[in-house]
Amino acid sequence: MDTNVRPETMARIQTKELADAFIAEQVKDIRAQVGDKKVLLALSGGVDSSVVAALLIKAIGKQLVCVHVNHGLMRKGESEEVIEVFRNQLDANLVYVDATDRFLDLLKDVADPEKKRKIIGGEFIKVFDEESKKLEGISFLAQGTIYPDILESHGVKAHHNVGGLPEDMNFELVEPIKLLYKDEVRVVGKALGLPATMVDRQPFPGPGLGVRCLGAITRDRLNALREADAILREEFANCGLADKVWQYFIAVPDFKSVGVRDNKRYEGWPAIIRAVNTTDAMSATIEEIPYPVLHTITNRITAEVEGINRVLLDLTPKPVGTIEWE
Ligand code: XMP
Repeated sequence: MDTNVRPETMARIQTKELADAFIAEQVKDIRAQVGDKKVLLALSGGVDSSVVAALLIKAIGKQLVCVHVNHGLMRKGESEEVIEVFRNQLDANLVYVDATDRFLDLLKDVADPEKKRKIIGGEFIKVFDEESKKLEGISFLAQGTIYPDILESHGVKAHHNVGGLPEDMNFELVEPIKLLYKDEVRVVGKALGLPATMVDRQPFPGPGLGVRCLGAITRDRLNALREADAILREEFANCGLADKVWQYFIAVPDFKSVGVRDNKRYEGWPAIIRAVNTTDAMSATIEEIPYPVLHTITNRITAEVEGINRVLLDLTPKPVGTIEWE
């Protein structure tokens, strides 16, 4: 039997009972596969790697070593949440690597989006590889591969897998959720007790804020983007849009306009709001954000975020605009 093909008899996991049964079966299989050996996992904090981590912690506890690489392009509070949930609450074996300076130094003055992606992807592999070499006795590599990744591995999304790992790593793979669809991964994550903020999160590209800090990334503009994005997320949560909209974020281009703040000329960057709905990310429509919400977001961002003096709304569906600006 091809283990990469979902059996037709497999019910869609939509209830806690089915999720619990899946978890029990996976725990048994993981223990049988791994024995008393050690497993390594790149834990980004996204839904898939978080669920794989929680499953493995349940099955083999500290035989799992999670490595979280902070590339400096995470959203506000994300790395902190990974540490809080996995190290503090689940008592996981977690190696946290703050590689911000490495990534931002390499990205300095690089404006081309594909070059930026290559640098981020390449450096990620390097950092992860270095960390894995410091560890002893690792026999397995766990991955958060899900069924759409298998179905699409020859398609358009291949270049998206920034978290792709070095091919010469000689580890046997552990891929406990490879036959699940995303909605099922979320149900399993909840049954494992992961927080909703982690399990229900919107998709976030591997290169992170790197492709939203448009053009050559600078630290001050990246910080402004991170703060503005946090305000957008907070306000979307306040008005119920966070549960409804598929993906929403801020992009900050690298040009300034003239404005006034505290009765003085104030040149700043614009923050561009993008909020889209889609089922497969191949095409997308625009969410209609109520004007009062837009005003609140605009007021907060322009008052609270250093360096931003205007807020714009992107109304372009995909096609013709891609979801990300770069
Ligand atoms: P686009 O911009 O192509 O995005 O309409 C479609 C979906 O893919 C995400 N995306 C990425 N994900 N690495 C990723 O892991 C990337 O380089 C990347 N670029 C785009 C995007 O956020 C959207 O969900």
